[in-house]
Amino acid sequence: MMSLYPEYRLRRLRRTPQIRRLFDQPLPGPERFIWPVFAVPGTNRAEPISAMPGQFRYSPDRLVEALENPVRTGIGGILIFGVPEKNTKDNEGTSAALPGGITPLTIRAVKQAYPNLPVFSDVCLCAYTQHGHCGPLDAEGQVDNDAANLQLVQTALAHAKAGADAVAPSAMMDGQVQAVRSGLDQAGFINTILMSYSTKFASNFYGPFREAELSTPQSNDRRSYQASPANLQQALLESTLDEAEGADILMVKPAMLYLDVISRLRERTDLPLAAYNVSGEYAMLMATAERGWGNLRAMVRESITSIARAGADLIVSYWANQYEELLANR
Ligand code: PBG
Repeated sequence: MMSLYPEYRLRRLRRTPQIRRLFDQPLPGPERFIWPVFAVPGTNRAEPISAMPGQFRYSPDRLVEALENPVRTGIGGILIFGVPEKNTKDNEGTSAALPGGITPLTIRAVKQAYPNLPVFSDVCLCAYTQHGHCGPLDAEGQVDNDAANLQLVQTALAHAKAGADAVAPSAMMDGQVQAVRSGLDQAGFINTILMSYSTKFASNFYGPFREAELSTPQSNDRRSYQASPANLQQALLESTLDEAEGADILMVKPAMLYLDVISRLRERTDLPLAAYNVSGEYAMLMATAERGWGNLRAMVRESITSIARAGADLIVSYWANQYEELLANR
């Protein structure tokens, strides 16, 4: 390529903030953000999560309070993670599907207070199994795929009955999307949206979340069911299969380390695409800022810009409850 310099100078378009602003894509508005929230039984509980400053485990009443601001800001929705009492856990994760369980209870409380707020619920078993895996273990200690699917269907149904607008299966079982979709349809929940955690990697950036949800696997790890960070083709195929199984929304998780996967999927699908800006990504920026090694607002804005630029429509992010301070223009 021939040099266009000195006639052409890109710096002309960057000289002042007002000029730069003419060409920059705006940050996504609050309506593109889904706030993940942790729900615990009881009343008047707001337990700080130490690895995630600014995030808490809330009882339903306190969650309703904590939502006042984000709802006023106009966030797009919430994604509920139920954190049950320890003594309710078993090998199968049966308590995940109880109609009076923590997630259905929370869905009802939030829907009553904010009928128009889109409520998504995480559908997984890891918080409900003693061993912390995302489904029942078989004799070899592997997660039993098809037994997990049966339990995931029952769990999704309990959430749909409680009024969830969208259910989000995250266990990375083969066929879980098809199983949940047909279970919902057979029970008449044809309008319940299915957001699949379609490309979910076996990531080391879920650590703070597992502290929040008390769901660390007690043995081994999740690499026999979550996708390998080192295998792009399988990562893409995971989402392609979920599209064929009937997902309404696809997702890449984590977000910041997998921007290439987001942009590849953006080209392959016309379904809406979500990106999950996970707990480790949140903790990383928080910790850097707390040490005085970076400006939180600037780092958050740059990382959200990147996720949106890669092609995500929805951003599931713990920054959502701080949209005004960190993301709104001022
Ligand atoms: C599993 C689940 C996990 C996250 C969301 N759903 C943890 C895991 O797979 O180990 C992680 C979210 C985060 O790190 O913010 N049900």
